[in-house]
Amino acid sequence: MKDIFNGVYKYRGEFYTKNMDPGEKVYGEDTVKLDKLEYRYWDPNRSKLAAALKKGLKKLPLDKGSKVLYLGAAQGTTASHISDIVEENGIVYCVEFSERAVRDLLDVCERRVNMVPILSDARKPYEYEWIEKVDVIYQDVAQPDQIEIMKRNCSRFLKSGGWVMFAVKARAMDVTKEPKEIYKEIESELRESFGVVELMELDPFEGDHCFVLARKP
Ligand SMILES: C[S@@+](CC[C@H](N)C(=O)[O-])C[C@H]1O[C@@H](n2cnc3c(N)ncnc32)[C@H](O)[C@@H]1O
Repeated sequence: MKDIFNGVYKYRGEFYTKNMDPGEKVYGEDTVKLDKLEYRYWDPNRSKLAAALKKGLKKLPLDKGSKVLYLGAAQGTTASHISDIVEENGIVYCVEFSERAVRDLLDVCERRVNMVPILSDARKPYEYEWIEKVDVIYQDVAQPDQIEIMKRNCSRFLKSGGWVMFAVKARAMDVTKEPKEIYKEIESELRESFGVVELMELDPFEGDHCFVLARKP
């Protein structure tokens, strides 16, 4: 196992995180045991962050102890890998508005001390304004107003110098436009308030999606 970012490991060409809940899987992923430690395979076909890593994401702004607000946590697939990376001293606030998804998310959060489930709409950050300021906002909501949702949460919760990891679904924004055209628009819109560090398309893992890494000044 080679530690390539803080807490992300490469083994036989694939990415893994160290399982903070050994013996348990979150989405049926494979696990590997080495030197008495258990690692979870991070599937790029199931997680857009793993897809971005596979496509060569140069910076991963996560570390032990990072505080993360995760918008669109679904059943906790990607959030659980972030939970592995930030470990016990970090925290992942998981916002999800589908009651059905939250039912599964609750099972994952119960077993992990650093994951906090929040049944709420990410358009209404005032509903969870009790959370602390965070180092990173991760967003994957696939909504037409996804940029507005991101800006609203960043202005309330993201520390200055904090990072945004943003999975953008082009077709959710405008089905009539070419995805590349939408990515350009997003980049120029984000540049108005953030330093955009990387923008990459996620094909072949996720069609019509791009992943943006940006930093709040
Ligand atoms: C593509 S899935 C997320 C997958 C997840 N990020 C992962 O990698 O494990 C999008 C999720 O965002 C949720 N969602 C969409 N709009 C939302 C909103 N306004 N507030 C909270 N959750 C939202 C959906 O219910 C869905 O579960």
